[in-house]
Amino acid sequence: LTTDADAVINDPNVHVVMECIGGTDAAADYVARALSLGKHVVTANKDLLAAHGAELDALADNHGVTLWYEAAVGGAIPIIRLLRESLAGERIVEIAGVVNGTTNFILSAMAAGSTYADALKRAQELGFAEADPRSDVEGWDAAHKLALLSRLAFRRYVKSTAIARRGITALRPQDVALGKHLGYALKLLAFSRCEEETLTSAVLPVFVPSDHIFARPEGPQCAIRIVGQATGALSFVGTGAGREPTASAMVGDLLAVLRHLAHGTAFRTNRRMADVTLTPLEQVRMPHALGLDREGDVAAASAALERAGYTVRAAEGTSALLFDDLALGDGNVMRVLNAARMPARCPIPIWRDR
Ligand SMILES: NC(=O)c1ccc[n+]([C@@H]2O[C@H](COP(=O)([O-])OP(=O)(O)OC[C@H]3O[C@@H](n4cnc5c(N)ncnc54)[C@H](OP(=O)(O)O)[C@@H]3O)[C@@H](O)[C@H]2O)c1
Repeated sequence: LTTDADAVINDPNVHVVMECIGGTDAAADYVARALSLGKHVVTANKDLLAAHGAELDALADNHGVTLWYEAAVGGAIPIIRLLRESLAGERIVEIAGVVNGTTNFILSAMAAGSTYADALKRAQELGFAEADPRSDVEGWDAAHKLALLSRLAFRRYVKSTAIARRGITALRPQDVALGKHLGYALKLLAFSRCEEETLTSAVLPVFVPSDHIFARPEGPQCAIRIVGQATGALSFVGTGAGREPTASAMVGDLLAVLRHLAHGTAFRTNRRMADVTLTPLEQVRMPHALGLDREGDVAAASAALERAGYTVRAAEGTSALLFDDLALGDGNVMRVLNAARMPARCPIPIWRDR
């Protein structure tokens, strides 16, 4: 045993390096040097992969080794190997899911009656959220994971910074209650859809039908659904993070590397990847539900929105309006309601499977 990372990286008898330190500074340096010296690397570090994945993949490719990162997305769900190996011959058209356990814990607690602030505090006490929770609650962690999944699914370089992203910090218990009333669960959903050569990717709070696979994960669990042209839909639900699933996935990667080394085979995953332009969010249309703060505003709010060119209908038994077809991120709806002095919460998209 040694605490000297350089001694491990520079040892010619070491063929595999496992990086478990996190962050993007020392980890990037250690991983890059290990790959440059012809060592396979196993990591769970999605921040590192989001920041330097493209260079590290290229470095691995140039040195005939592989970067393994099953533990970086989906915890116990073996999604990376599935995309890299089992579905390597498949034309995937959509990948979507609840990929951040922290926000799912918070939204599950809000569905059980907590406020956002209480739910976050509880998540921090139980170790499901970090002291600085911004990466999770602002959707960055989900965007990093979506970028990785999209790269593997669509063989395109997708930068997490280019992914349209809205977190959960502005959600209110009334939004969760509205969803329940309409038969939906409120989830932070990450999705990428590929049509022709264009990709639509976003991380957003979305209403999902309560009998949908995306409504299943409770607390820190995750759910991922892949739609392939030949396979149709494949769905997975499981523990999304935590040290045991993470360690299990890393050991699985280690054993896979050792098998390849023992048999003298090389597992090369780094195919040439094209850049891709993401579809602007405003061009993506979905049904939405919008909660008004005052029940008495329903008729006047409908009239104001119709005058502004929107088609809406009232959701029975609630102070909500439904849009069958609204552009994601349409800010004009709130401008119309603000001008009419009708307090409301932002419209929330309603998920429809493709
Ligand atoms: N925990 C999970 O559920 C989970 C799930 C998926 C992915 N991951 C990923 O796994 C990685 C580690 O996460 P974690 O939760 O285990 O973090 P952690 O509890 O902070 O553990 C990091 C460990 O690395 C050590 N370390 C930090 N910098 C180092 C350096 N420069 N040289 C040597 N050792 C160093 C730390 O030692 P000191 O304590 O002495 O500083 C600590 O023991 C991260 O990339 C994370 O994103 C974790």
